[in-house]
Amino acid sequence: MSGEPTRNSRRLADYRKPGFLIPQIELTFELAADATRVTALMQVKRQQPTVPLVLDGQQLELQYIAINNIELRADQYQLTSEQLIISDAPAEFSLQITTTINPAANTALEGLYLADNVFCTQCEAEGFRRIMFFPDRPDILSVYTTHIIADQQQYPYLLANGNNISTEKLANGKSRVSWHDPFAKPCYLFALVAGNFDCLSDSFTTASGRKVSLQLFVEPGQQSKGQFAIAALKRAMRWDESRYNLEYDLDVYMVVAVDFFNMGAMENKGLNVFNSKYVLADDSIATDKDYFNIESIIGHEYFHNWTGNRVTCRDWFQLSLKEGLTVFRDQEFSADMGSATLNRIDAVKLIRTAQFAEDSGPMAHPIRPEQVLEMNNFYTVTVYDKGAEVIRMLQTILGQSGFNRGLACYLQRHDGQAVTCDDFISAMEDANEVNLQQFRLWYSQAGTPTVAIHQRYDSDNATLHLSISQRHTATVGQPDKQALLIPLQVQLLSSDRKVNQQHLIMLSQLTEQFTFADIASEPVVVWENFSAPVKLQQDYKLPQLLLIAKHASNGFARWDAMQVFWSDLIRQKAEQPTLSLTLPDDLIKLMRQWLQQPLSDKALTAELLSLPDFDTLAEQYQHIPVEAILCGLQSIKQQLADVLAAEWQQCYQATTSGPYHYNENEVGARALRNRCLNYLALVPQGSQLVQQHYSDSDNMTDTLAALTSAQQAKLASFGELATDFSHKWQNNVQVTDKYFSLMACDPTDEVFTHLTALSQHSLFSWKNPNRVRALFGAFSMRNPQQFHRADGKGYSCLAQVVARMDPINPQVAARLITPLLAWQRFNDQRRDHMLAELKQLAATSNLSNDLYEKISKSLP
Ligand code: ARG
Ligand code: ZN
Repeated sequence: MSGEPTRNSRRLADYRKPGFLIPQIELTFELAADATRVTALMQVKRQQPTVPLVLDGQQLELQYIAINNIELRADQYQLTSEQLIISDAPAEFSLQITTTINPAANTALEGLYLADNVFCTQCEAEGFRRIMFFPDRPDILSVYTTHIIADQQQYPYLLANGNNISTEKLANGKSRVSWHDPFAKPCYLFALVAGNFDCLSDSFTTASGRKVSLQLFVEPGQQSKGQFAIAALKRAMRWDESRYNLEYDLDVYMVVAVDFFNMGAMENKGLNVFNSKYVLADDSIATDKDYFNIESIIGHEYFHNWTGNRVTCRDWFQLSLKEGLTVFRDQEFSADMGSATLNRIDAVKLIRTAQFAEDSGPMAHPIRPEQVLEMNNFYTVTVYDKGAEVIRMLQTILGQSGFNRGLACYLQRHDGQAVTCDDFISAMEDANEVNLQQFRLWYSQAGTPTVAIHQRYDSDNATLHLSISQRHTATVGQPDKQALLIPLQVQLLSSDRKVNQQHLIMLSQLTEQFTFADIASEPVVVWENFSAPVKLQQDYKLPQLLLIAKHASNGFARWDAMQVFWSDLIRQKAEQPTLSLTLPDDLIKLMRQWLQQPLSDKALTAELLSLPDFDTLAEQYQHIPVEAILCGLQSIKQQLADVLAAEWQQCYQATTSGPYHYNENEVGARALRNRCLNYLALVPQGSQLVQQHYSDSDNMTDTLAALTSAQQAKLASFGELATDFSHKWQNNVQVTDKYFSLMACDPTDEVFTHLTALSQHSLFSWKNPNRVRALFGAFSMRNPQQFHRADGKGYSCLAQVVARMDPINPQVAARLITPLLAWQRFNDQRRDHMLAELKQLAATSNLSNDLYEKISKSLP
């Protein structure tokens, strides 16, 4: 990397309006594995005087180019490896360009690729330029007509956006299918899929009575595994009507599931493409978590039809405009479909692990980044999930009806446009007649604020004084920060419970005083629902934490109190390694009570009985004490298992399990029962129970719970169970991915043997992102014991995988490298190993922009 010229990033500040618009485009694809011909006929209109017409294009072979039907001479345009430039283009003209591309060689899975005998596109963010020459930016909106020509037998379904307008049989066994999408859209929403599928059809009648045809395409033979997804789609369509009054707009909504896909799913207009991991499910192969993910991602992509497609982003720095908002919408949908408390807990776990880590590392960026080298690197937990938290704060501040009014105003005002985050906030302001100027800082300021609460209770005057401060630390490129507008949703709760009130405290300054009168006795301040993406600092003592865990009205806050307790305990141990960890009686008493009488929300009960995971704890330290966290967790877990052995057993038995159903109650019951099992695996009678659980299981959730419990407790039976599992499912690729992940989580050093062996498994392929993530992503993200080995073996294993993946698929490589970027957070030995791996990668020739950007930001 040293000696190499720095590569050019783009800046938000450099945004310029497009020089030309392309209101209409007609595309013809003649599909062939290694030489697909793409012909485009565009209507072009000049917008700015004198500027040249600049078209993006990568890995394309130009065959023909003409303006108003007259072929251009080679001196009339300039062609580089990334652009085609026409210096003096007329004011209004038709532009015809024919190119050829090689879908079979496209292992990056960006643009048009052929994998598993399916032609498939992925254009977001900048993949359209790998299909044809075009101004590949989201503020160029065009009406598309697409013709697809391909062999009929091999590719019986030829799909593109919009409505099917014609299907013809051609000579020589080919067919030609044409599509027209009446809604002008940016090119990143273009999609084409061709292949052989099973098609599930259904229909949905919108609130205003229009009948929409729903079609789900899956690999032949997998039809029954698509039922859940299509039912989830109908729930999402209904929900968006009732919550936001938003209806679907085309006559057909298609979803295609493919196994080769870089991400979860893509919201192409009228033709969503999904990773099959988030579509295919039935009661034997899907876990509760799988069902949850399918419903939420089906919802997410559907909700994009309004927030993303009808109103899109002006430029890619505005990505959170559609993603933060749409994640927020899918979270609200999921909360309405299942346990709202559990949804909140899971969302917060993600923020406190991956997002806080990103915010404190070399890739820290605001939810609206200001500088980007490779856009694919900015599909992050910050843009998506912190982005959703920012939207959630708006709803907290404006109230649900105020927020809905703002959203309606935004969609109506900007329908058919490509706009900015600022436009969104302006709509919220105008619809609610408020000023959100300070709130806008959430879009430009990176980093996680710390909010500290100090309380003083004046019993003589029955008054509570809160002194609250917000602290901001510098992040890369942002040394100075300003005070943010932070909504704190709190409950004041006294141990005699005479004080029990809820307040919304709005912080707007670095330090502020708040006074509450008529407070009869000293309360604790309970922070509800993680109402802002901040770290809260408050000195709770055990009795206060227990009071919250027992009596807070907010389920999230109860769970959070337990997390604070365990975090504090492990911190003491980290700071004072000789300390022996003893668990307070009152705490054991409370846990015993929950086990004997679980709350009606069993999923919450399971969470109340769970320890924080390694990543959550790690994020609480500047320098991560790996051993102290791992040993602390293990020792606490063993003690809890021993002390409460009888109660785990009793609760396990009492929590019934009938035949499998995916619904809120039974998901909760399984979670609680499997939590008990996980502790019981650590006591002498556990081994027997785990085996029984495995053989009795009629579903993937319980099966994996048995396997994971056996593995973590290092039970002798684990090997046998795992082998049985792998044989049973050796022909199912979804379940084999689960098997890969399971083996990658082996906490012993056997894991390296597994990784090597499984990378030669007949179903494994370096070209398939799902396989690579299942094996090596699980190893680096879910196996802290072995990944963070002091001898660096875990790091070098990951670095080798990254080096191998980069030439195949840079997006996947760049995602995998993330844990190594955090070298500054570890002790000398680990830090040196991580740095050595990063430096070696940096020296690789032909490093992708994806990896280059991340590594160069991370290296000292
Ligand atoms: N827009 C897609 C979504 O629904 C994701 C696209 C991800 N693109 C990427 N290059 N990583 O969230
Ligand atoms: Zn999205």
